[in-house]
Amino acid sequence: MSELEALAAEINRCTRCPLHRGRTRAVPGEGPPNAQVMFIGEAPGFHEDQQGRPFVGAAGKFLDELLASIGMKREEVFIANVIKCRPPGNRDPLPEEIEACRPFLDRQLELVRPRLVVTLGRFSMARAFPKARISDVHGQPRKIGGVVYYPMYHPAAALHQPSLRRIVEEDMRRIPELLRQAAQIAESPPPMEAEQLSLF
Ligand code: URA
Repeated sequence: MSELEALAAEINRCTRCPLHRGRTRAVPGEGPPNAQVMFIGEAPGFHEDQQGRPFVGAAGKFLDELLASIGMKREEVFIANVIKCRPPGNRDPLPEEIEACRPFLDRQLELVRPRLVVTLGRFSMARAFPKARISDVHGQPRKIGGVVYYPMYHPAAALHQPSLRRIVEEDMRRIPELLRQAAQIAESPPPMEAEQLSLF
């Protein structure tokens, strides 16, 4: 069993916070162990809780379409969430739930080591940009410790608010170029970074 699989098994058994009592299945996340891009959503919803897989409901269908629009498939990327169990009635995650689940996401990031981390929605964004407002920072990549973080609105927000749809689609369209730039960061020696990279 790989370390990621062992971690997923640990998540499936987790009882660190009360959300485990209401879950049908935990949703550890999925994707290739060497994915270059990791998408981090908020929390499982109804369908994710039923299936134990991330982004398989309406927001997931939109995410698949967004990925297709840049020539990518979900099988190429790692998809995780800030919390791994569904909150009752899909309410916002509580700070203590996010804290209880934090080590799991930290470990997933350590194991996959993606070059680009796309945060979906404000809870996911808050890990990298604690004080930021998503309306201010969406679509603006920032390099933190050799990894490029790229905040986007949550796809579900765009489904509820049609005015966000185009913004989400446009932010998504920058990902291939960001990935090229992130690859340069990974391959270039640290002193060169500032000179070579204009985007961040
Ligand atoms: N929304 C999320 O944030 N995550 C999922 O897995 C599904 C919907």
